[in-house]
Amino acid sequence: LPWNGEVHTVLSPVCIQTAEGLKRKVIGTYPLCTEKESFEALDAAVAAYDNGRGEWPTMSVSDRIDCVALFTEKMITKKDEVVKLLMWEIGKSHADSVKEFDRTVEYIYATIDALKDLDRRSAQFSIEQGIVAQIRRSPLGVVLCMGPFNYPLNETFTTLIPALIMGNTLLFKPPKHGTLLHYPLLEAFSTCFPKGVVNTIYGRGNKIIPGLMKSGKINVLTLIGSSKVADELKKLHPKVNRLRAVLGLDAKNAAIITAHADLSLAVQETLLGSLSFNGQRCTALKIVFVHRSRVDEFLELFAAAVAKLKYGMPWEEGVALTPLPEPHKPAYLKECIEDAIALGAHVVNENGGLTNESFVYPAIVYPVNKGMKLWEEEQFGPVIPVAAFDDLEETIQYLIDSTHGQQVSVFSNDDDELAELIDPLVNLVSRVNINCQCQRGPDVFPFTGRKDSAEGTLSVVDAIRSFSIRSLVATKL
Ligand code: G3H
Repeated sequence: LPWNGEVHTVLSPVCIQTAEGLKRKVIGTYPLCTEKESFEALDAAVAAYDNGRGEWPTMSVSDRIDCVALFTEKMITKKDEVVKLLMWEIGKSHADSVKEFDRTVEYIYATIDALKDLDRRSAQFSIEQGIVAQIRRSPLGVVLCMGPFNYPLNETFTTLIPALIMGNTLLFKPPKHGTLLHYPLLEAFSTCFPKGVVNTIYGRGNKIIPGLMKSGKINVLTLIGSSKVADELKKLHPKVNRLRAVLGLDAKNAAIITAHADLSLAVQETLLGSLSFNGQRCTALKIVFVHRSRVDEFLELFAAAVAKLKYGMPWEEGVALTPLPEPHKPAYLKECIEDAIALGAHVVNENGGLTNESFVYPAIVYPVNKGMKLWEEEQFGPVIPVAAFDDLEETIQYLIDSTHGQQVSVFSNDDDELAELIDPLVNLVSRVNINCQCQRGPDVFPFTGRKDSAEGTLSVVDAIRSFSIRSLVATKL
């Protein structure tokens, strides 16, 4: 892009050998907006919304659907470029990058279908007490939309597309790691939607976002990211009670493997749950509780399963473990492992925790206990803390004490045991997975969390609701 201002140099997690050792490869630059430029983008979004009188918020639902469908057609033609950038910018394997792209396209088409259906139903009139009302779904105003680095396309679009299709205007800041991959889509944004409807801002969130929040002109904040950042940003809004927030935040999902579990199934699901995309998923299993009677067997099987995972570059066939995009992550994970070791744990698997500039070999750490970083912190990487328990009550207490409340996985073949656990668990977290890993999908399922893990609900239909208000036109007969 032509740009005269300051730029950010993008370093790929893919490293190259240099005279000073292994270094992250430079793969491009993107502009760093100034505060002034971010306010210009905000003004453009406010003007395009024009208090609900703008071309976009007043356009019929079917015309807005047509614009989004056209955008999607153009997006599909950019698949190869976006997939390549997903691999280079965030180190996602080719298979997972293709999945992320295809899942996003499917999500958009599902949103269109769901909206057509809702619109058909809301077009019905309701007559009560001599008043007839037409119920509509109306936009909310200007939406500030920020997605995460681990799903920079998919999770950004699970908020951006519903916000857009409901008639809101947008300020969109791509994640720090995961900006370049949005470039191929910029032209489609500018040709498929009226001017000022989608405004992309680049740069340092901590420099430009606070001012936008303080302006009071943001009606909806949507962020998939850190609970701390979300809390800080919300507080800056002058009328925080009038701000709608749609947030997907931190999580520390636990697996509970009881004495009655099918251990090979538990190992297989825990492996996927803890190490897909190197554990960099909010839904990842970030601590594993195993009944003391099965823990040795579990550790042996789990270490053997980890040893079979192929590591390498994102484009290599069958690769499961890839380099990490956040430069601070290898040192942070090492610190977590060392903290656990200092407090009595050990690394169970061979080579566990070996690091270089951008890679960390998965580490199974046992026994993890209260007081260790790995007990509480969301490590968001390839380190799997394992704890032994004697009584299921200990695992429930862990969830009660936790500030997080997204999901839990329970592995047991005992129906009575499961029946006793489900009610307490589902009142502590927002999804209980029986004999399977934690995950967001299928995307038609509601996706939310309790405590510090979320605000509002996503999913195809829930997102449409989250970015609109039910308004009505009522006439006395
Ligand atoms: O990082 C958080 C995502 O919502 C995880 O989604 O479970 O489909 O990988 P996923």
